[in-house]
Amino acid sequence: MMRRNILLLLMAVLLVSCVKKDPVEAKIDALLAQMTLDEKIGQMNQLTGMGLSDDMKQQIKDGKVGSILNEVDVNIINNLQRIAVEESRLHIPLIFGRDVIHGYKTIFPIPLGQAASWNPATAEAGARVAAREASSVGIRWTFAPMVDVSRDPRWGRIAESCGEDPYMNAVFGAAMVKGFQGDSLSNTTSIAACAKHFAGYGASESGKDYNTTWIPDVQLRDVYLPPFKAAVDAGAATFMCSFNDINGVPSSGNKYLNRDILRDEWKFDGMLVSDWGSIDQLILHGVSENQKDAALKGIEAGVDMDMMGFVYISHIKSLIEEGKVKESFIDETVRNILRLKFRLGLFDHPYATPDTTAFYKPEALAAAKEAAVESAVLLKNNDILPLVGQYKSIAVVGPMADAALEQFGTWSFDAEPAHAITPLKAITDMYGKQYNIIAEPGLTFSRDSNATGIAKAVAAARKADVVLFFAGEEAILSGEAHCRADLDLPGLQNQFMSALKATGKPVVMVVMAGRPLTIENQIKDASAVLFAFHGGTMAGPALADLIFGKAVPSGKLPVTFPRMVGQIPVYYAHKNTGRPASNIVTIDKIPVGVFQTSLGNTSFHLDAGDKPMYPFGYGLSYSTFEYSKVTLSAKTIEKNQTLTAECTVTNTGKYDAKEVVQFYVRDLVASLARPVRELKGFDKVFLKAGESKTVKFEIDASNLGFWHQDKTYYAEPGEFQVWISKDSQSGEPLNFVLK
Ligand code: GLC
Repeated sequence: MMRRNILLLLMAVLLVSCVKKDPVEAKIDALLAQMTLDEKIGQMNQLTGMGLSDDMKQQIKDGKVGSILNEVDVNIINNLQRIAVEESRLHIPLIFGRDVIHGYKTIFPIPLGQAASWNPATAEAGARVAAREASSVGIRWTFAPMVDVSRDPRWGRIAESCGEDPYMNAVFGAAMVKGFQGDSLSNTTSIAACAKHFAGYGASESGKDYNTTWIPDVQLRDVYLPPFKAAVDAGAATFMCSFNDINGVPSSGNKYLNRDILRDEWKFDGMLVSDWGSIDQLILHGVSENQKDAALKGIEAGVDMDMMGFVYISHIKSLIEEGKVKESFIDETVRNILRLKFRLGLFDHPYATPDTTAFYKPEALAAAKEAAVESAVLLKNNDILPLVGQYKSIAVVGPMADAALEQFGTWSFDAEPAHAITPLKAITDMYGKQYNIIAEPGLTFSRDSNATGIAKAVAAARKADVVLFFAGEEAILSGEAHCRADLDLPGLQNQFMSALKATGKPVVMVVMAGRPLTIENQIKDASAVLFAFHGGTMAGPALADLIFGKAVPSGKLPVTFPRMVGQIPVYYAHKNTGRPASNIVTIDKIPVGVFQTSLGNTSFHLDAGDKPMYPFGYGLSYSTFEYSKVTLSAKTIEKNQTLTAECTVTNTGKYDAKEVVQFYVRDLVASLARPVRELKGFDKVFLKAGESKTVKFEIDASNLGFWHQDKTYYAEPGEFQVWISKDSQSGEPLNFVLK
């Protein structure tokens, strides 16, 4: 027996020694063994660019900086990198980061607009272009994709998200990770993605940025976490903490989030960076009395790098000397940082090769234009679009018609307006010979409250056969810390629209904005409405193609459009409640002097009813589509079986066009009330006029489940419904049973 055990032990030892350690881990071990405590802490410190200041150069030389963000001059980046690589003691390269959210120089539609394309391939292509352009100046880390589920258009950062749905954010977030990181992180055109902001940031109360959130664990896991898990599964190299607290625990000090879930449950081996100063802000949150305690909470919660908080560099050493933190604890943190740098190949290729041809390549501009075409959502069309033939003169008016900077949208730090093509420029260049284009902005910017220009624009409208009114929001009215409590068109745009309507000319309203807007009355006055979000560098040519019929709108809303701000939060995947909306009596229909009754009351607003302006998934085309009855492969499935749902979609119109076919499910009865619909799949299909295609979706117990209070995910047996439909409100359900 003894001989047998010794033999087994020897075999085990042999096996372990034969199993080669991951070469990166071996390199990390070797480097870590040489590092002083100061050098380890230096890697955890991220500073914003200060050019070639002596202070920055000295800190790098002394090994006190692990990363620099917001430096974009390739010569400065290479200079600073040379100091790290050649003059610091251990020659550890820096990693340079930047918010390359939807493009570096070639700007793509804002992420909310890209989500409206329902075509993840365009998002992946856009991220790939961004990575190529950004990496050419030495940026190898972007702070994107932002995958915060957002159900509140008051929140400025909804522009940066992929909308209200967990599945949609998961699919698009994964596509962007793949686009940024390419086939291999070590490829010099790859940049590390950063899934942010972990987590629950989109639930900020009242849509006010940085605000508190109250998220029960089952909702955190059902709604806010799935896009982050998808980012881990897609290989996201880094994560970023969110500014908000969840139920009183700020994310930068949240062990449950960053260690229990991200590391232990999801086995994430990437690097977690704080948001800007968010560890230091634990003091303002009121959970730390001073920076030292904030540093302690941050490191205990597993935050590896301190972005511009100066708490790690200032206090970690004393925390170790006081025995409050073990140095071995820091080693794990530094491992995560070094692993990222090794994976990026920075030790082998630390320098960027300046390449002035890297920007605005024809294929990049073409991809940006295609993304802008696919991101526009046709909300209304009284047979006026596309503009073909019968017009001689066209008035192009509105504050967004020729606003290059504004069409980039938020998070476009490095965009160059000189390279943007505005709608007015595109229309003039492409159609100026065919039509008499009369251009009058009417308002000089979206918030303009000076009415003097409107009269000239109205006069232009009177001379024209049709009016193109480019309305919306300046870029600065959405994005971080730019939240609005009123979602009307800013400035005098509503009055402008009324004056245009009064001319009796048909008005096509094109809206360029960073969020859903409450524009019900303006939509009523318009003959057609195209909602283009902020479309980026090529928004102009894209919109010109859509307006004049060279392209057909195929976008669908990734977020519900409320009729009024007071309806918020309003989203499709809501619970049914015990009194779902029915026998609705709106405020103007209530008789005077009527006694109150508690009978027949249901869930709606007296002054808004219960429906949004437009539902999630809504969008028109120049063509029309017919959906056949859905068929199911079975009426009952076992836990280990797959159900296939099929539907034949026919293009019944006269334009070749794309249609986003959507697949929803509902769990009719469960131990927790479940949403009335949940998106579980979509397929954007191209159909020639008259063509039909059968679209299939598969589902099984693995994605029919939900999170339970005991932190387990599973599907409960029972009756479900499925839809294959054109949006989240349409179609007839079919029932099946999961046994
Ligand atoms: C900002 C944002 C974050 C961004 C970071 C660096 O405050 O919250 O999304 O990546 O700072 O710019």
